[in-house]
Formats: sequence, C-alpha cells, structure tokens
Amino acid sequence: GHNKTQLTNHHNSTEQQTNHHSTALTPKRTHRDYIFGKVIGEGSFSTVYLAKDIHNSKECAIKVCEKRHILRERKGQYIKREKEVLTILSLNHNPKVPFFVKLQCTFQDMERLYFVLTYAKNGELLPYITKVGSFDITCSKFYAAELLVALEHLHSLGIIHRDLKPENILLDENMHILITDFGSSKILNEPTSQDADDTNHIQRRNSFVGTAQYVSPELLAEKSASRSSDLWALGCIIYQMVSGLPPFRSRSEYIIFQKILKLDYEFPDGFAPVARSIVAQLLVLDPSKRLGATDAVGYPSLRSHPFFTGINFDTLHEQTPPQIY
Ligand code: ADE
Repeated sequence: GHNKTQLTNHHNSTEQQTNHHSTALTPKRTHRDYIFGKVIGEGSFSTVYLAKDIHNSKECAIKVCEKRHILRERKGQYIKREKEVLTILSLNHNPKVPFFVKLQCTFQDMERLYFVLTYAKNGELLPYITKVGSFDITCSKFYAAELLVALEHLHSLGIIHRDLKPENILLDENMHILITDFGSSKILNEPTSQDADDTNHIQRRNSFVGTAQYVSPELLAEKSASRSSDLWALGCIIYQMVSGLPPFRSRSEYIIFQKILKLDYEFPDGFAPVARSIVAQLLVLDPSKRLGATDAVGYPSLRSHPFFTGINFDTLHEQTPPQIY
C-alpha cells in the first residue's frame, strides 16, 4: 500500500553514498565498522549511541532510527530532511564556523537507518545551565555569540533550524557549541534572500511545531516559520542562560502557548540591563520587527548590540570559552 511505496522511496534516498571524509569511493559502511557503546541521546524516533570506529579508534555518535517506527509514525520526511540538511552543512563547511555536528556517513540495514555524527564530548548545554543556575554575562554572551554566528551561517544557506533549544546545543571537548537535531528544520527555496517575510504560509501540511518553550508565536498562530523564528529561540536561550529559566514557563504546554501568544513574560530582578535589552528586541511578536529580521546578510544589527561589546566574532572558535559559573 501507501506505506510500502514510502519505504521504497526512502530506501532510494538514503542509499546514496554519503562519505564526506574521503574523496575516493570507499565501501559502504555497516554497523560492523563500529563498536557500539552507551546510549547518549534519545529522541522520539531515534536513539543516539556513543561508538568507536574500529579502523581508527575514533569516537563518534551514531543516530539509529528504526524503519518500522518511522513508517508507523510517518516520520520519513523528517529523517530525509535531517540527512539533507546535514549534507548541505558538511558540503558547505566553513572552518570559521565549526558549530554544527557533522555527518560522517550514513548506512542502513533491513531494520534501521544509521547516521554517523561528530561526538560532542561534553554533551548538552542544558545541564550546564541547570547545574550552575545561570551563566554570568561573560559566559552568556560568549555562547550567544557562537549561536549567532552559527545562525548566520545556517540562514545564509537557507536553512531554518526551527527547534533550537539548550538540548540541541551540544558542547565539544573544548566547550565550543555543536548544534544538532535538524529533523525539524526547513530548507527555504530562496537561500540568498534574507528578508523577514520569507514565510511559507502555503506550505503543504506544515504542521510542525517545535518544543513548547522555544516555539515562536508565528509558528503557533499561523504555522509559518522564517529565519526570524530562530531569532525568537535565540532570545529565549539568552534569557535562560542569564536567568536560569526559559521566559515562558508552565507545567501545561497549553498555558505556555497562551503565554507566548500574549508575550506574557517578565525579567527577574537582577537581570542585566544590556541582556534585557537584546532579549526584549528578540522576543517580539511580529517576526519582521525582531532585531536582525531586516538585515540583508548576516546579523550586523545583533552583532553591534551592546550586549556583545568586546566579542570578536571572527575568532570565536579559536578562543578559550569562559569558565561556566
Ligand atoms: N546526544 C545526541 N547527539 C549527540 C552527539 N552527537 N554527541 C554527544 N551527545 C549526543
């Protein structure tokens, strides 16, 4: 039936050789090329394992998706999109912006799909925020700056992440960020234009909604996403790094959505005014009115905000990240 056809199509799309590390055509890998270790991540339709490449003993992260589960949940498009985005990012690798997990290769067997990815040794950003309570301003602005440079690169390629949150921001061995989880992302048709109104209102069944606390009001109200939706998430993440908690909070997802649509949030006492200023200009209901939304290339209006005073955006990857306190 219909599902069978989908599976066949999906097979074809994943069977292309993906091997970004060597130029020579090397044999397609299998799970036997790796020693699988502990589970380091779990998504709704995937499990991520720490693994070791038996040929060079290098550690990697392998995202494993069960085909039966993907078919049952009709998530084929998400997996396909994730591979597409990871491939675009790997092919457009910019050594000054090494802030994304890289796809090393993909393979499959009868039951599962495998994505071999960069292993982020220090895991997710979230537990660092949670454990410390909040970041000091130096630390908050360093990580906000890495996120901003990463978003500039992503958006210049016409990719919107759509589910940016501290769980999807991983940390490498040197504590630099590696953004992951592109399953919810969207590839725009017009990668070079960067106007704020590139929303795709008439996208077919664009029923995607990101994680409650970081989802933008336009995604909730109109199911439309633009680059500006990631800027909203950036505002939420800066708020969370500075204060320790995300701006829109409730035990009920429904209440969170209501608060987002009403822009119902407050700054706690002691929230640094310069951080308050940038957050307030990102958490704006109208996506075209957010800081950076009308920037032609990159986000100069964000870069030049006083919050980022003293940051050298060109050398972030070479800098030693500030201690997290
Ligand atoms: N959790 C999910 N993906 C991961 C990765 N690539 N590295 C470390 N932890 C992860």
